[in-house]
Amino acid sequence: MPPAAPAAVSERTLVLLKPDAVRRGLVGEVLRRYEAKGLTVVAMDLRRIDPTQADRHYAEHVARDFYPPLRAFVTSGPLVALVLAGDQAVEVVRLLNGATDGRQALPGTIRGDLALSNRENLVHGSDSLESAGREIALWFPDL
Ligand code: RTP
Ligand code: MG
Repeated sequence: MPPAAPAAVSERTLVLLKPDAVRRGLVGEVLRRYEAKGLTVVAMDLRRIDPTQADRHYAEHVARDFYPPLRAFVTSGPLVALVLAGDQAVEVVRLLNGATDGRQALPGTIRGDLALSNRENLVHGSDSLESAGREIALWFPDL
């Protein structure tokens, strides 16, 4: 008998529609792509974050040269925080988002189609299941 196919195990991931997505009126367009893929919205909130929350979210980057302008950007206006769920949601969201730098991201991805910047790149997606757990607890502690 052939080995059984791996069962579909639903994962959760933390997604941010960054302030450029809100300013540019792309919340609907970006959300449409996640939903069309089959991911489910588990939580969603429009909020503005302060520098302390930015530092917690980007803890791995706070000492990097690129971080001060990144912090200024993510605190520059309201963003939409989301928890999405689905089979392999962490990796699927990263594939839909595309490469970090919008100028290099492939056409067909969110960044590839809609972003032309390495900083103002519209979206964030957790980069591992472990990060997803940490970030969901940080953004949606009641979930
Ligand atoms: P994100 O965390 O925002 O989803 O983006 P990512 O995983 O694709 O990229 P990551 O490596 O986590 O970097 C976080 C954000 O920092 C900016 N960045 N700038 N060398 C640089 O100048 C540099 N590297 C990263 C990007 O804006 C990226 O979204
Ligand atoms: Mg990242």
